[in-house]
Amino acid sequence: MFRVLITDPLSRQGTEQLLNAPDVEVVQKTDLKKEELLVEVADADALIVRSQTQVTADVIQAARKLKAIGRAGVGVDNIDVPAATARGIVVVNAPDGNTISTAEHTFAMLISLARNIPQSYQSIIRGEWKRKDYVGVELNNKTLGILGLGRIGAELAKRARAFHMNVVAFDPYLTEERAEKVGVRKATMDEVIRSSDFITVHTPLTKETRHLIDAGAFARMKDGVRVLNCARGGIIDERALYDAIQTGKVAGAALDVFETEPPGQHPLFSLPQVIATPHLGASTREAQQNVAVDVSEEILHILRDEPFKNA
Ligand code: NAD
Ligand code: MLT
Repeated sequence: MFRVLITDPLSRQGTEQLLNAPDVEVVQKTDLKKEELLVEVADADALIVRSQTQVTADVIQAARKLKAIGRAGVGVDNIDVPAATARGIVVVNAPDGNTISTAEHTFAMLISLARNIPQSYQSIIRGEWKRKDYVGVELNNKTLGILGLGRIGAELAKRARAFHMNVVAFDPYLTEERAEKVGVRKATMDEVIRSSDFITVHTPLTKETRHLIDAGAFARMKDGVRVLNCARGGIIDERALYDAIQTGKVAGAALDVFETEPPGQHPLFSLPQVIATPHLGASTREAQQNVAVDVSEEILHILRDEPFKNA
């Protein structure tokens, strides 16, 4: 029997294949403290996580039998991949299952930001009627700059085109053919930064993309720009964002992700120009089922020494 340890909440429907497998014992324990995780992982053949469990080098070291770590989602930045690889442990993710949900969430944030929907909701339920305070801007004919035109960036671009936005994108791997297919103009990072009314990031968090948007980038942006991060906390420098809002350079920001999660009473939340959600990009029934199915299949393949695809 293979012991599969699941340490973050996962769709039950999505894990049915694992739960029903005759050669698998599923152990689901969430909200474990570090010491508890070190004990639980010791005898596991596979570990499945979302973004909450931090699979650090000491967790990997404590795992005596671990063959695979599955990430029910895209980003593997909560897993020490080099430490896993050094021990011959395969790390797999579920790259496609939450693309649409995250693109839709980003688009919802874009409209909310343009029309002050969260702020005006808070105002009206306080009994106020302040129509002049919440005048917004249209998306029509505005330029949306996308940094990172991968799966989510491309889906977002299609939705923005439907709202008659001009979309410019920078991605080091973007070809003219793909840009044309998605309906965006291929640009340099600097062109995106300088020409956009809204800028949204959709890259992974790596050494290269950490603080991709920093004080220098904010200084080159249009006055009154609005920025969004529904990818990973840390791609936008939060301190620099705070300063850029205070000076009036940035008119608004929409954040789904934070450098530290949960962010607690973040200084950015004291600014009325900031709207936020608690890392909800992939939080739909559909996406959670998709990623759980995908990661469960991959883990079963690895445990059974069958071919797998998302390492
Ligand atoms: P993806 O791999 O399909 O696309 C990422 C793109 O970023 C690639 O095309 C890559 O070439 C590009 N890129 C890398 N470095 C770059 C750089 N320096 N400048 C510009 N582009 C760069 O990934 P995806 O599925 O589209 O996911 C994008 C991000 O969204 C990831 O960080 C992922 O973890 C995050 N995500 C967040 C949520 C959420 O709940 N908020 C949900 C799913 C994914
Ligand atoms: C991801 O990278 O897939 C996201 O952070 C979504 C998540 O894990 O909830």
